[in-house]
Amino acid sequence: MCGIVAYIGEQNATPIILNGLKKLEYRGYDSAGLAVVQNDKIKIRRKSGKIAELEKVLLEDTVAGNIGIGHTRWATHGEPITKNAHPHVGMTGDVVIVHNGIVENFLEIREHLQESGCKFNSDTDTESIVHLLEHELASGCSLEDAVVNTLKLIRGAHGIVVLSNKEPDKIICARLGNAGGVVVGVGDGEMFVASDLPAILEHTRKVGFLESGQYAIIQKDGFEVKNLGGETCEFEVQTISWDPVSAEKGEYRHFMQKEIHEQVRSLNDTLAGRVDFEKGKIRLDNMNLTPEFVKDLKRIYITACGTAAYAGMIGEMYIEHFARIPVEVDVASEFRYRNPIVDENTAVLAISQSGETADTLAAMEEARSKGGKLWSIVNAIGTQVMRIADGTISMQTGPEIGVASTKAFTAPIVDQYLLGILLGQMNGKLSDADANQAIQDLRLLPDIVGRLLDREEDVSAVAEELRDIENALYLGRGINMPIAYEGALKLKEITYIHAEAYPAGEMKHGPIALIDESMPVIAIAPRDPWYEKMISQIEQVKARGGIVIAVATDGDERIASLADHVLWIPEIPWLLSPIACVIPLQLLAYHIATIRGLDVDQPRNLAKSVTVE
Ligand code: AGP
Repeated sequence: MCGIVAYIGEQNATPIILNGLKKLEYRGYDSAGLAVVQNDKIKIRRKSGKIAELEKVLLEDTVAGNIGIGHTRWATHGEPITKNAHPHVGMTGDVVIVHNGIVENFLEIREHLQESGCKFNSDTDTESIVHLLEHELASGCSLEDAVVNTLKLIRGAHGIVVLSNKEPDKIICARLGNAGGVVVGVGDGEMFVASDLPAILEHTRKVGFLESGQYAIIQKDGFEVKNLGGETCEFEVQTISWDPVSAEKGEYRHFMQKEIHEQVRSLNDTLAGRVDFEKGKIRLDNMNLTPEFVKDLKRIYITACGTAAYAGMIGEMYIEHFARIPVEVDVASEFRYRNPIVDENTAVLAISQSGETADTLAAMEEARSKGGKLWSIVNAIGTQVMRIADGTISMQTGPEIGVASTKAFTAPIVDQYLLGILLGQMNGKLSDADANQAIQDLRLLPDIVGRLLDREEDVSAVAEELRDIENALYLGRGINMPIAYEGALKLKEITYIHAEAYPAGEMKHGPIALIDESMPVIAIAPRDPWYEKMISQIEQVKARGGIVIAVATDGDERIASLADHVLWIPEIPWLLSPIACVIPLQLLAYHIATIRGLDVDQPRNLAKSVTVE
């Protein structure tokens, strides 16, 4: 949600922080600000609204210095107005902070501070942290000790970065719990801190991630990582191969459009190195699967949120189909509180693009506390969901910037297909012939996705027809039922059109009452084992005057004669058909949103990374 960038070195921190914040715009925010030390004084510039507003402020009244911190804020406590924007200072103006997270005991702390004469200038919980820091500094503490003592007083999950003009040679950053990541970037005579990699990747690819309960003292020539007990911690610095250019929009109008088109590459990369087409084998080395564990594996839960959970619903079918292991999908916000039955013969697979989703992490912690094995499929490298798992699959999609997830939906579908085959091969439930067929089918995938993307204009023509709709009903069955949910989610997220999704067989149990000539029904009806059932649903919708937009396989004349519009997909093996069916639905939502002139990449009220409950 909120984003953090900090810099210390020889360069002017202001443009570095500003550009870093721009790279984090995708996370969703409603104000932005930065602070630098200039002539021994902390100078703050901040503004509600987009970063462009902050830039205007800086144009009129610039600041420069070799050390600084910046932030994009997504309001939790206090309105999204300038006085609540970060960074925050206290009464002395000698220490300044940016913060991600929520101070759970904020009211208590504020009351206590106010009683001792403290004046608050904002409505934020963050400001209470800076007053606590000042209090510690006033008692003679060093900045480091003040940070440690303060962290012990606040409850909740936090990522913070602090600097002081009294110790202008250092930045201190810390991570407590899962309020997003804290990344330390190592440069040559300069150092960076950020909540997310894209903010600093253009400067360095040498990075390390703080664990919960760690803090780092960052100086321009080096850093030290400690725990809250003051002990020095080992800290791994890794080299990230993401190309910063891939985080740019390139030739596309929006990141979402670019990311939809990147699915050919991302699916190719998903298969590369993992699928041996010659030998009919799958390699998922980082899953750390042992024959003993797989033999005793009794049950798998898949837990995730939103789009990632819909990908999990398809994974459920793959694992049950290939490996005959019972799988249950739970949205993470429910799993964490429903006292699930987990033991040492249970695996819990978490799926997350950001790797920092608070509910998903809490679901994993719940599973861990009950003795289950933790698996994860994650896009953002090095994040918590990846780190705390016993086995992991890294999505090969590169950074996803658009708030509406697209390429990070299709990649984990394929990852779970591979996992299902591998489990089936390991537990002997999948024959060599069936495994080989399933593996060979994967060869077709990147080409089919490429051909689908070539049909973007056809989809945009349908979007033009649907530009003014106010509601939509998405129907699917079997392996494509989750595609109905995902299609509807994409539409509501970026077009704000009310959309509902149902397993098509449920129509007669209620939703059919909605059908009339003003209700567009998006029917996902490729040639899969549920095809005849979908045809009968389409007939029922037509009989009631509904408008049918079908997703159907090339050459299907029955559908052509029934539907008002068809989004055609190439012939594809049914197990892989969800990947083909979702692409026209991603494009449909995208084009309706652009026709309506909406902010596709940063839809209202949404954040890319949901690090609060
Ligand atoms: C997707 O379009 C959504 N913005 C949202 O549902 C997202 O998938 C969900 O918040 C989970 O995020 P994660 O994959 O980063 O954990």
